[in-house]
Formats: sequence, structure tokens, C-alpha cells
Amino acid sequence: MLLKSIAIDGPAGAGKSTIAKKAANELGYIYVDTGALYRAIGYYMATNGIETTSDSEVTPELKNVKVELRFVEGAQRVFLNGDDVSEKIRTPQMSMYASNVSAIPSVREFLFDLQRDIANSNNIIMDGRDIGTVVLPNADVKIFLTASPTARAKRRYDEHINKGETVNFDKILEEIKLRDYNDSNREIAPLKQADDAILIDTTEIDLEDSIKLVIDTITQKLG
Ligand code: C5P
Repeated sequence: MLLKSIAIDGPAGAGKSTIAKKAANELGYIYVDTGALYRAIGYYMATNGIETTSDSEVTPELKNVKVELRFVEGAQRVFLNGDDVSEKIRTPQMSMYASNVSAIPSVREFLFDLQRDIANSNNIIMDGRDIGTVVLPNADVKIFLTASPTARAKRRYDEHINKGETVNFDKILEEIKLRDYNDSNREIAPLKQADDAILIDTTEIDLEDSIKLVIDTITQKLG
């Protein structure tokens, strides 16, 4: 059977994971959230007292790290050295640690094969920052999903509030802008739209319509 791969890239808070999950469900594909891999590495480094921006501190530690993705009833779980860290990696602080370690070349190399291997053995929708440009340059469909920083911050804010967490909107907006800057300006695999990716801007579109638009785009492109 010829396997299909769909790459969805874009900045933080554009709705990639929610939309990709729904689309994967609809198509019967496996959804892979690659941000979780960078988060797991950031989590490991931060909890072991390693400076997450330091290549010389992070790189030698990677030999002590084992990251695995397991799919339980269609949902992805992330395991770090055998422990399920899927929830612990979801804080705003972990987002920044993930962004820091993701700029280190050895970290990207470390996670590269893992991402490729999953795509080589499943029909997948993979989301991230460099899936269409670096990880799966031959993906069957590439989508670059974006929205204005304010719209993205508002969605993240609502997500946290709905979980009963206390968060500050301005701080979230500031973090989103900082992460956009870091992710777009790093030397290795920066966040950018692949030449052959379809741009979808969801600033003015609600979640339901965004999901429909993405699924329609994918099914049309797959033929
Ligand atoms: O997608 P998510 O917000 O969980 O990603 C966390 C961080 O991991 C991003 O800000 C980015 O720095 C990094 N990342 C990356 N490449 C990917 C996925 C995520 O550099 N493919």
C-alpha cells in the first residue's frame, strides 16, 4: 500500500493540533504532534537543571534521553525515559523550553529519524514547524496554517481558562510573539512556508469552518 503523508506547519496557536486531529480522525490517519517531542526534550533538560538555550550543556545530555510516541486509541502519548509526560509538557513555561532546545542542531537531528520512521510506516498527518520543508519534503499535501498573533493568543488564553488555569492575556501574547521570533529566526529549520504549501489563514475563520476548509483542501489535493 502506498502511504500518504500530510504536513501541517505554522506558528504557535494557529489551531494546528485541533484541526489536524479532526482531519486525521476523518481520514483514518494517525495524527503526529511533533511539538510534543521538542517539549519532552525541553522538559527533561529543565527538570535536570540544564540550561535549555545552551548547546554545550544540552547536546551531551541527549545520550540520557529516550523519547517515544505511543498511540493509545488513536491518541498520541509522549514517553520520556519510560514515563508518560504528555500532560506535564503542556505549560507555557515548557513551550519556551521547547522553543529554546529546538534551535539546537543536535536536538533536531536527534528527533529527525523518529519523525521519519513514523511517516514511513503509517498514513499520517504531522504538524510542526519544519515538516513540509525538512522532515517530509515529499509530503502529498502541505498546509501552512496561520492567524494573527492576537487571534492566536486569544485562543491559547481561552484554552487555559477553560482548563481552569489562571493566565494573563498580555503575557500569552508576549510569549507567542517571542516564540514566533525564535522559531522564525533560528538558523536551523526555521518556521517558514514551504514553496509548495497551501496557505490557510484562520484569523477571521472560526474553528469549525477552519476544520472544514483544511479537510476539503486535503481531500481535493489527494484526489
Ligand atoms: O507545536 P508546539 O507549540 O507544541 O511546539 C513547541 C515548540 O517546539 C515550538 O515553539 C518550536 O520551537 C518547536 N518545534 C519545532 N519543530 C517542530 C515542532 C515544534 O521546532 N516540528
